[in-house]
Amino acid sequence: MSASFTGTPPLIHALWPAKAVLTAMGMLAEPYVKRHPGVREMLAATVYVALLGCLQAQQLQGHVSIILLGATGDLAKKYLWQGLFQLYLDEAGKGHSFRFHGTALTSTEQGQEVIAKVLESLSCPSDTAPGRCAELKAQFQQLSEYRSLKTPEDYLALSKDIEAQVQHEGLQEAGRIFYLSVPPFAYADIARNINSSCRPGPGAWLRVVLEKPFGHDHHSAQQLAAELGSFFQEEEMYRVDHYLGKQVVAQILPFRDQNRKALDGLWNRHHVERVEIIMKETVDTAGRTSFYEEYGVIRDVIQNHLTEILTLVAMELPGNISSPEAVLQHKLQAFRALRGLQKSSAVVGQYQAYSQQVRRELQKPDSFHSLTPTFAGILVHVDNLRWEGVPFILMSGKALDERVSYARILFKNQAYCAQSERRWEAEQSQCLPRQVVFYIGHGELGSPAVLVSRNLFRPSLPSASWWEVTDRPGLRLFGRPLSDFYAYSPVREQDAYSILISHIFHHRKDSFITTENLLASWVFWTPLLESLAREVPRLYPGGAENGPVLDFEFSSNRLSFSQPPLEQVVPGPGSAPTPSHFQVLTAKYRHSPLISAWPEELIARLAGDIEAAAVRAVQRFGKFHLALSGGSSPVALFQQLATGHYGFPWAHTHLWLVDERCVPLWDPESNFQGLQAHLLQHVRVPHYNVHPMPVQRHQRLCAEEDRGAQAYAEEISALVTNSSFDLVLLGMGMDGHTASLFPQSPTGLDGEQLVVRTESPSRPFQRMSLSLPLINRARKVAVLVMGRMKRDIAMLVSRVGHEPKKWPISGVLPASGQLVWYMDYEAFLG
Ligand code: BG6
Repeated sequence: MSASFTGTPPLIHALWPAKAVLTAMGMLAEPYVKRHPGVREMLAATVYVALLGCLQAQQLQGHVSIILLGATGDLAKKYLWQGLFQLYLDEAGKGHSFRFHGTALTSTEQGQEVIAKVLESLSCPSDTAPGRCAELKAQFQQLSEYRSLKTPEDYLALSKDIEAQVQHEGLQEAGRIFYLSVPPFAYADIARNINSSCRPGPGAWLRVVLEKPFGHDHHSAQQLAAELGSFFQEEEMYRVDHYLGKQVVAQILPFRDQNRKALDGLWNRHHVERVEIIMKETVDTAGRTSFYEEYGVIRDVIQNHLTEILTLVAMELPGNISSPEAVLQHKLQAFRALRGLQKSSAVVGQYQAYSQQVRRELQKPDSFHSLTPTFAGILVHVDNLRWEGVPFILMSGKALDERVSYARILFKNQAYCAQSERRWEAEQSQCLPRQVVFYIGHGELGSPAVLVSRNLFRPSLPSASWWEVTDRPGLRLFGRPLSDFYAYSPVREQDAYSILISHIFHHRKDSFITTENLLASWVFWTPLLESLAREVPRLYPGGAENGPVLDFEFSSNRLSFSQPPLEQVVPGPGSAPTPSHFQVLTAKYRHSPLISAWPEELIARLAGDIEAAAVRAVQRFGKFHLALSGGSSPVALFQQLATGHYGFPWAHTHLWLVDERCVPLWDPESNFQGLQAHLLQHVRVPHYNVHPMPVQRHQRLCAEEDRGAQAYAEEISALVTNSSFDLVLLGMGMDGHTASLFPQSPTGLDGEQLVVRTESPSRPFQRMSLSLPLINRARKVAVLVMGRMKRDIAMLVSRVGHEPKKWPISGVLPASGQLVWYMDYEAFLG
């Protein structure tokens, strides 16, 4: 069922560009023809030749069908139809023929009505004369249709119609673009239908454009990606992040590239004080709470828009920035360098009216209070040589005091200026702030711009498309008059969607999110989202009244609100959960002290206890021998020790491994690698105090004849008095294993050996481990047990006696030292 707005003969479609050129030149106007007799014939011939040229060009370039699914929806009405119109204006004269199929589930009649209104409201570029604009719109309308697209038969009919039309008009099909502006639950069905009945014939391309959300967390994003991957090739998918279509965002890499010389020495931890990536909005979420309640601010804009900007700023610059593959690889590298986030890396807020809006729109009871954040501030670190130690602040929120987005790189200032401040000159004075700002839009400036402090360098931007802004006296940005900056804005401001639609047409894949890119982002954000799931957001009044209530401060790895919450915006008694669940509980477990708390407090407590033990040991013996386990539980502990414990006597600490996998030390699976990544590279332990297990000798892994275990035992005996570690940190596996001592292990559970080779039931099978007898010689043993998955084993082990063969952990009991259990509530209480 399809319906065109009018039926224009195909020849007219093909010929109008040539006519348009002549009309635009004023050459078909009557007065012109009158003044130049004979010109009519000449023009007719020219037109004819031009038209023929167009026809030939079209045959060369082929026909493009654009199918907009969700054509009556908000996004389509606001941006996509306009973007398609712009594409038509830009491309129709270059030899392609087009047809635009708006589709939705709406009936044909209703849909046609909506689309007719939308097409009527399209606007032309500002320099188009009104008459010409009407003409162009009419042409676009003629090429646009609406059809209802629901059933597999509808898809088949659409495909047949395209084929018939192409054949009838004697065209070659170049390709089809399916733009899915629909909710994600509809993706699978649509994808199946496109794949089974709407693929164009051989030689023509298929492009499928997808709008976020692309999942809710890493797992769901993976599922969705796998599902889409079963219908489309990666090459065929265009995942939209509309921020990549914003002119200033799209300029970040070219700017870094074109100004390499000036930036090379500056774009690093030695010079950058901090990076701020900010997206402030004044609107709230009224009308879209059903979406927002499920996603919240981090998933809505930080996981995607702000993270993309972060990678563009932080990534190493590829040699060739126009190679999508190179850009992707460098982006992925940047993702890998991001330090894992903890709950303390973020603050979250919620505007006061939000819960009420949710109750109203989603028919929730009066007692309902949402925990969905509408504001978040997040501290991100990029752990590589370029950025180590530089805070990246990401912030976004609804119902804030202004609408503005930017990425601001603020440089360190170590200058002292001998003259008085009033004599400082913007170009020269090194005492004025030095910053590069990618001003994405809105705010005081009101338009996108790239700003560079004059005391940094004069930037180079493509002069045909960016011009210098000089005429805004009185305007101050980031604490300085605009005149302190070189400021460049696009000559022609364009909407992000128009740009992206053009990039889809031109197959510019670097403006879109690949599956790898998407999943890398979710891998980074999912742990934080999980840890914030029960966090009570700070309430804020909204708009200018927010005052300083959302201001936050950061230090090393933590970020916190600067002020206590405003009493008056907290809802009535009983509605806001209190932080009583953050208490630390002390009790006994297997007759030894047990410390239990929520993960963050537990880790903080353990780190504090280890530091105290270290300080004591160094005071008494001049050194501290610490043996650490690998795996995932201690990662947070390592990070905590690395960033929050300046009193730790690292220079006098010896670090040993409790166990190791038989893989090379550089392998990501190696316990030493984990220790290196999360602790060693951040603290100053002398190299000769670090003792990795010798799992690789003579280029072999854990070969018996290489006697690695014996060598480690000898090293311990030589350096650690009585082979008695000051502190051994252990974990507990779900099968009751500890270190790499597994149930029924023939070695390491008793006997004389200090270090043993063992077998694990899971990969990598070969391990090396301290033995129970050696562990039990320690002055202190701390067992860290975290997560709900450990609940059952924790229950079981609490009841069993000394049975190391069945549950090696039950054999841990230092002969003269102390054993302390550190369990989080989920492991201890379930
Ligand atoms: C969208 C979010 O991706 O971006 C919205 O879903 C947000 O919540 C919008 O308002 C902001 O985009 P822009 O282009 O107005 O900055």
